[in-house]
Amino acid sequence: MAPETHTNPFRYGALALDDAFTDREGEVVELTDDALNGQDVVLFAPRRFGKSSLMWRVSQDLIARRALVAHVNLMTTPTVTRLAEKLARTVYDDIASPLFRAKERLSIFQGLRVRPLVTVNPDDGSLSFSFDAAPRPEDIGATLERLLELPGQLAGERKRPVVLILDEFQEVVEIDAGLPRLMRSVFQEQPEVAHMYLGSKRHMMQRIFNDENEPFWRSAKQVELGVIGEEPFGHYIEQQFARTSRGIEETAVEAILAVTGGHPYATQELCYFLWQDTPAGSIANVEGVSDALAGVLNSEHAHFSLVWEGASAHQRVLLRALAEEPGHPLAADYRRRHGLPAASSTQRALQALERAEVVGRNAGRAWITEPFLAQWLLDNA
Ligand SMILES: Nc1ncnc2c1ncn2[C@@H]1O[C@H](COP(=O)(O)OP(=O)(O)OP(=O)(O)O)[C@@H](O)[C@H]1O
Ligand SMILES: [Mg+2]
Repeated sequence: MAPETHTNPFRYGALALDDAFTDREGEVVELTDDALNGQDVVLFAPRRFGKSSLMWRVSQDLIARRALVAHVNLMTTPTVTRLAEKLARTVYDDIASPLFRAKERLSIFQGLRVRPLVTVNPDDGSLSFSFDAAPRPEDIGATLERLLELPGQLAGERKRPVVLILDEFQEVVEIDAGLPRLMRSVFQEQPEVAHMYLGSKRHMMQRIFNDENEPFWRSAKQVELGVIGEEPFGHYIEQQFARTSRGIEETAVEAILAVTGGHPYATQELCYFLWQDTPAGSIANVEGVSDALAGVLNSEHAHFSLVWEGASAHQRVLLRALAEEPGHPLAADYRRRHGLPAASSTQRALQALERAEVVGRNAGRAWITEPFLAQWLLDNA
């Protein structure tokens, strides 16, 4: 195959699939084994760390090993009815389709209290499911309960491993206050089904799984996803340049990873800009990285302006301080150095920024998690 010299090999925003996916080998093996064992897992990480991409890769491996994998993204299901519709679709497509002949498939919905309306897409013959716009809550609740039972039942009868992936699971509490309890009561009756919960809002994940008053308390193995290591990410960057007839100096790779710290999205974004500025046949260097960074900041300007405009006065002082010096903002000397308000006000500002996932904190040390925001603040705020 001729080398692809014209298409940028770096991607950010969409799932990292196939060639765009790197490293995470240990996690792929661990999660695949857990799923095949029927072990429930909660996978959490800050935003844009590659949770969904990793789970997609794991799904591919699971499907290759005869597992049935149903997948629902709770971000796209704001109501119980929408959730039931999505679930009906994935149970039909991903569980019933591999198991039954076309004529038999719809019979899986026979026992539902509310019957779905089935629509055929004339373009590709795919089916979608909808429920009455205003069903009685108890009816849609019973329907959802039955749909949640189906994957385990259908796969169990045929001795196939079955996995239910719930992405953006922190939304479960927003959809309906009673939903966590309903889900948990169904899930604990199906030990053979591996439930994989993915979530981006660390706080909510911790509350759902770590608060003993919550139904999901300690119900799953917790796996935290970190950044991608310097060595595999560096190697990946070099390879992507090389396979598109370009080169990159080692110092430039180091400069990229020094800026991004191996943050998956940020690294791909910066590399995208750098590649774009590197003509075929030439070699990217450190100056190129500075120019690419300027390009990234320019392109993120509107987004960062919104973060800044949405911040209170105390939050702004704190943001600027953390951009200059990640550290312990509640300590008296830190507050003095950066002109921060009293510890209680700083604490409130810190908590709000943490909830918004703009700031991260570990053992009291705080830093700006949003990639490139620290640099933008130093340049603009
Ligand atoms: N394994 C990987 N190798 C290379 N790049 C990756 C990898 N995983 C993620 N990325 C980069 O990070 C971006 C975000 O990935 P993904 O959407 O999977 O993250 P996420 O944690 O699910 O994000 P969100 O919090 O928005 O749901 C991708 O578009 C890609 O640029
Ligand atoms: Mg995701």
